[in-house]
Amino acid sequence: MMGSHRDTETQRGALSRVPVVRTRAEVREVVREARRAGRTVALVPTMGFLHEGHLSLLDQARAGADVVMMSIFVNPLQFGPAEDLDRYPRDLERDLELAATRGTDLVFAPGAAEMYPHGAPGVQVVPGALAERLCGASRAGHFQGVLTVVAKLFGIFQPDVAVFGQKDLQQATLIRRMVDDLDIPVRVEVAPIVREADGLAMSSRNVYLSASERERALSLSRGLERARALWAAGEGEAAALRAALWSTMAVPGVEPEYAEVVDARTLEPVERAAGGAVMAVAARVGKTRLIDNAILP
Ligand code: PAJ
Repeated sequence: MMGSHRDTETQRGALSRVPVVRTRAEVREVVREARRAGRTVALVPTMGFLHEGHLSLLDQARAGADVVMMSIFVNPLQFGPAEDLDRYPRDLERDLELAATRGTDLVFAPGAAEMYPHGAPGVQVVPGALAERLCGASRAGHFQGVLTVVAKLFGIFQPDVAVFGQKDLQQATLIRRMVDDLDIPVRVEVAPIVREADGLAMSSRNVYLSASERERALSLSRGLERARALWAAGEGEAAALRAALWSTMAVPGVEPEYAEVVDARTLEPVERAAGGAVMAVAARVGKTRLIDNAILP
């Protein structure tokens, strides 16, 4: 009785985890075999501690390719010295189970020494002016770290498709730009923001929030909703939309960092908000830095 119960559990456990590899060589081998079989490959890069937002990227990847692979790597190169690299949440076992629920074929979870055997790479991807705006203004070097690791992942997987989230809109914009500027042969797709029932954009960093901070964090998505309602009612002045974003975030315990209306391609501020423009916000709630955005319909 006990034995069979345990067997069932073991079996269930064994069946519900995605195969995981730790080295670039193993990834290359799996990808080579997939290609030999004529199958297309999709990659979903993440830093793990998966939530429904990450899983939605797996669904989109599945719709666009035969084989779906995910990388889980907390990339030291994209964290500033005062940022949360050491306490960034990690739970690989849980991630492997969650990824399995969406039919992921392989997870690549390297250590830092596997990704950066010589320490920080001497050659990196320099993002240029697009990286200086919005989040880049307060996170020097962040996007250089992101683009460098994403370029490496593209080199390791050589995927046909890579899926990123609109949640990190500046990141997705920069990755599209890198692929275009450097002629990297991958199709970049960007998936919509997945939110909690009350509107908060899902993020691995939401676990940092206390109950009261979690409540205050709603001021970001509420600001975006308010500004969107204003726009739908005919307000086209970016300054008025910015003011609505800013005033909604002006609550005790929330320190707004930016509230902008920008062109989706250049990320430059616009004066009149046309359809397709992006409203983007960032704020510190307690010690946690949160971002959110909405594309005007
Ligand atoms: P991470 O923050 O783990 O996010 C991985 C991917 O999930 C990103 O493309 C991100 O935009 C997407 N994502 C996060 N929250 C989402 C949400 N609520 N809805 C939809 N998609 C969401 O972004 C990174 O990791 C790293 O910078 C990485 C690209 C992996 C490079 O290290």
